[in-house]
Amino acid sequence: MSTAPTVHAHQVSKSFSVDGKDLPVLHEVSLQIMPEQMVAIMGPSGSGKSTLMYCLAGLDQPTSGQVSFNGTDLAGRSRKALAEMRRGELGFVFQSYNLVPTLTAYENVALPYLLSGKKPPREQLVAIMNEVGLEHRVDAKVPSMSGGEQQRTALARVLAQQPQIVFADEPTGALDSRSGELVMAKLAEVAREPGRSVVVVTHDPGVAARCDRVVFLFDGRLTGELRPQNVAQVADVLTQLTERAQA
Ligand SMILES: Nc1ncnc2c1ncn2[C@@H]1O[C@H](COP(=O)(O)OP(=O)(O)OP(=O)(O)O)[C@@H](O)[C@H]1O
Ligand SMILES: [Mg+2]
Repeated sequence: MSTAPTVHAHQVSKSFSVDGKDLPVLHEVSLQIMPEQMVAIMGPSGSGKSTLMYCLAGLDQPTSGQVSFNGTDLAGRSRKALAEMRRGELGFVFQSYNLVPTLTAYENVALPYLLSGKKPPREQLVAIMNEVGLEHRVDAKVPSMSGGEQQRTALARVLAQQPQIVFADEPTGALDSRSGELVMAKLAEVAREPGRSVVVVTHDPGVAARCDRVVFLFDGRLTGELRPQNVAQVADVLTQLTERAQA
């Protein structure tokens, strides 16, 4: 039985223009994210992981190549359609947390409901916040929260929204190991649900080893892929890549 990919990147290249010069960042990256998969993207700092994730999520356009979502080319979608898709089908847990600083943690979690004119199910949302260890921060204003708490607020919002695919850029980067475990367990639950997927950028071999697949980026090129067996194996491949980056 063949299943269609949720996200299909075909020969995606991306350059930025810096001081009038072209800075190539991604080179013909092809990648498919399948339903019920949790995929880790690893690679040295500056290798293009966040840029690739932005392209996969339709937040940025490739310079050449295509990205399709559920079989439809993102480039063919109107701005409005893309915005709707981002509200409903895609969830983000990003390095810059995209929380509204003037709102409380709870209000940020409830924001998608408020924006679409629906009454937020307060009990259910607070229960989700409890699950990610935010029970004591429900009514905290964003600037008074630690980086890790803010990141878990973004995660709670995504868990409440139940999008088809979750993009998480270093979701455990700001967390102690226990909170990191909690976050990974919740993301793994998402990827076990029918039709849903998770893409995680991470520097942590422990996080990557919990994924179904790990893809490695080096200088904007996909250089390998693993079905991880254990943490040591992922760490080995990463060390080899990092040594290459420093050579
Ligand atoms: N908007 C931009 N304009 C110019 N250059 C950019 C832009 N975004 C990223 N870059 C450059 O592209 C390269 C890849 O950046 P990217 O953020 O994708 O790396 P990364 O693998 O996520 O790194 P890290 O692990 O440090 O987060 C870097 O050299 C970066 O400076
Ligand atoms: Mg990054």
